[in-house]
Amino acid sequence: MYVYLNGKVMPKNQVTLSIDDRGFTFGEGIYEVVRVYGGKKFLLHEHMERLRRSAVEMDITLPEYFSSSHVEEAIDSLIEKNGLEESYLYLQVTRGVQFRSHVYPENMEPTIVMYLIGAKDWSLERQGVPAAIEQDIRWQRSDVKSTMLMPGTLLKSRAAREGCFEVILERDGIITEGTSNNVFCVKDNVLITPPLSNFILPGITREFVLRLAKQLGISVDERPIHVSELSEMQEVFITATGSEIIPLSRIGEYKFDAPGKLTAKIISAFDDAIKDLRET
Ligand SMILES: Cc1ncc(COP(=O)(O)O)c(C=O)c1O
Repeated sequence: MYVYLNGKVMPKNQVTLSIDDRGFTFGEGIYEVVRVYGGKKFLLHEHMERLRRSAVEMDITLPEYFSSSHVEEAIDSLIEKNGLEESYLYLQVTRGVQFRSHVYPENMEPTIVMYLIGAKDWSLERQGVPAAIEQDIRWQRSDVKSTMLMPGTLLKSRAAREGCFEVILERDGIITEGTSNNVFCVKDNVLITPPLSNFILPGITREFVLRLAKQLGISVDERPIHVSELSEMQEVFITATGSEIIPLSRIGEYKFDAPGKLTAKIISAFDDAIKDLRET
């Protein structure tokens, strides 16, 4: 297995990381996940833009060598060396190495890691999966793609033990997102999704689905969704780079068509877009 560390692609067993890395001591890290289809990087530019924004928001200065062309070459090299044309590229950046202290100096050199994981087949989940609903106990900067994922890992692990695929989060009765995906509802042929705010991640797949919906002539309403409104929703689905579009059969006690008609239409348009990407 080959991975990337601070500018170089190398065998994984040659990687050493310091226990003084602030990603380890303080959980100070940001990340991206990019889907690779047939060796092609899907929406890489959008993911890099979001990473750069996360870095600015978290006061992490990305090094000069970390240009878009450098990243692209490194990913291509990882795909080739690992023979993983169907995969997820994980790109993680921590603030860097410093002996434990809350206060960090201004000129820190971030630690940057990239690695590939083979893609999973989601055809079973595309038939519909159950989700739980829980209070959103995350911080108030969920718009930043941070590696500090403990609220989500706790909630999702507990729900998984009870047979749920995902946990939909709510803050003061308003739905924010899933622990690792954005949420869409369908009511009377209108696609409804929570508006962007500091409480939700601006998902790259969310944006792509909104674009597809507009192309398909589907009415879209970006507005807050109250939990009690779930009883009026006919379809619900979640979106993420890894799992793409997954219909929910229920959230807690609220049940939905899975996959519903409009969801199936959007999934089909998504699949067509990926087919085009593979063929270009
Ligand atoms: C909390 C959260 N929301 C939404 C998403 C979906 O984002 P994207 O479509 O960019 O993968 C993710 C992805 O990991 C996530 O962790």
